[in-house]
Amino acid sequence: MIVSPSLLAADFTRLGEEIDMINHSRADWLHLDIMDGVFVPNISFGFSVLESIAPICQKPMDVHLMIVEPEKFTDRLAKLGAAIMNVHCEACPHLHRNIQQIHDAGMKAAVTLNPGTPISMLEDVIADLDMVLLMTVNPGFGGQSFITHSLKKVRDLRQMITRTGSKALIEVDGGVNRHTAQQLAEAGVDVLVSGSYIFGAEKPKDVIESLKAL
Ligand code: DX5
Ligand code: ZN
Repeated sequence: MIVSPSLLAADFTRLGEEIDMINHSRADWLHLDIMDGVFVPNISFGFSVLESIAPICQKPMDVHLMIVEPEKFTDRLAKLGAAIMNVHCEACPHLHRNIQQIHDAGMKAAVTLNPGTPISMLEDVIADLDMVLLMTVNPGFGGQSFITHSLKKVRDLRQMITRTGSKALIEVDGGVNRHTAQQLAEAGVDVLVSGSYIFGAEKPKDVIESLKAL
């Protein structure tokens, strides 16, 4: 399993130490949640924080943009060294163009779907995607409960990927814990994002290790 801890649940008074913990863990990526208070009803952190993190983060940065007009920031994220740019399908009327722009900037392109958005929205771009991020909670806050219907969505997406010959990975985000991670692994997920379950644990590195083993 690929594991992408979400920094949103970190202790922001000790951000350097938290990044260091991730650097020394078996985490594959670092998941960074950007919120604008418009696309989602919350604001997280922005470029000044990303710019501080980028030079010390030794894991590929998996940037999840919960913002309107995410395409405005494609080049800036690429310059910062982001490996993956996740844009929300619901925020991108010109999704096909946006995917091309992300690739042209040298990053992996991922499209994120809210719980209420059907996977059929991706039918015409799935072949071009490196990853699909299925939200398993409504985006905006950490620590919410997993939406059980997501398991069926993962299985349906796996079928779509196989049918179309796409190489896209399936990533999930929200409410991932010991119990739901097991179910998600069985449903065919490739990447687990997890915030509060990892950073709220007494031994976060052990939790990462246990998710890796799924
Ligand atoms: C929610 C964010 C998530 C969040 C997950 O909008 O996209 O990445 O940090 O938090 P948990 O794992 O606590 O549900
Ligand atoms: Zn996220």
